[in-house]
Amino acid sequence: MTIAIEQPELGIEVPTNKNITHDPNELELEEGFKVPEANTFGQTFRDYNAHSERKESVEQFYRLQHINQNYDFVKKMHEQYGKLNRVEMSIWECCELLNEFVDESDPDLDEPQIEHLLQTAEAIRKDHPDEDWLHLVGLIHDLGKVLLHHKFGALPQWAVVGDTFPVGCAFDESCVHYKYFKENPDYNNPKYNTKNGIYTEGCGLNNVMMSFGHDDYMYHVAKENKTTLPSAGLFIIRYHSFYPLHRSGAYTHLMNEEDVENLKWLQVFNKYDLYSKSKVRIDVEKVKPYYLSLIEKYFPAKLKW
Ligand SMILES: [Fe+2]
Ligand SMILES: [Fe+2]
Repeated sequence: MTIAIEQPELGIEVPTNKNITHDPNELELEEGFKVPEANTFGQTFRDYNAHSERKESVEQFYRLQHINQNYDFVKKMHEQYGKLNRVEMSIWECCELLNEFVDESDPDLDEPQIEHLLQTAEAIRKDHPDEDWLHLVGLIHDLGKVLLHHKFGALPQWAVVGDTFPVGCAFDESCVHYKYFKENPDYNNPKYNTKNGIYTEGCGLNNVMMSFGHDDYMYHVAKENKTTLPSAGLFIIRYHSFYPLHRSGAYTHLMNEEDVENLKWLQVFNKYDLYSKSKVRIDVEKVKPYYLSLIEKYFPAKLKW
């Protein structure tokens, strides 16, 4: 049974738009919505040119990510991490483990992860009270970041976080700091550097290998541990950092019909992921019983990671 708790009163307003659209710019266009204008550092969200102490390190991060995330690397990581033989723990234990990290790729966020997870989940709960699966997706979407932890081999940040993109086909120019792909070995490989590369038009994202990171890893964990989350929930977890697709509309030629449907939910989710990264504090102990009951509804008590 899911535990009922009172509706959250958050100091932020995110769109309550039930008519899901594909336009990521709609926030700015529509009237009546109030979204925070500034991130933790007082700047607009995802501004990779804003001068902040974070800017240099974010660019440095993307240089490393773009050079190192190639087809062979991703394949090797799938072999290693697909086994799920490192840790056994519950979803909530993982939330607590994650609390030790700050995401270096993120120009907007400078707070412990659990704050971001609960901010996202609570903002969704406020606007979509009946979609309990989506609340849970808010809570767990970043749990794959445990790959940074020494129990998971303490992977470097470029192998865990940042925007994601397909490997095995040409890198799209909408990828942030695109220029650094020129140093990626796949960039000049004729097998991988055409529009479709090793894929076929409309093959479905499920058949496309994405750069390795917390999104794809958490999707794999959820699926292999037999979550009962709906397909859209798994899609959100897997592609929430795929900004070239959900912000820029790149790579749509690889999607199939199910992807098109699921992308609508990802567009809904993304606003909360992004705009909940602001100075809103959540009373963790107060909301914890509700989220524990959701975890129980959709996941086994212990998961293999
Ligand atoms: Fe994420
Ligand atoms: Fe996130």
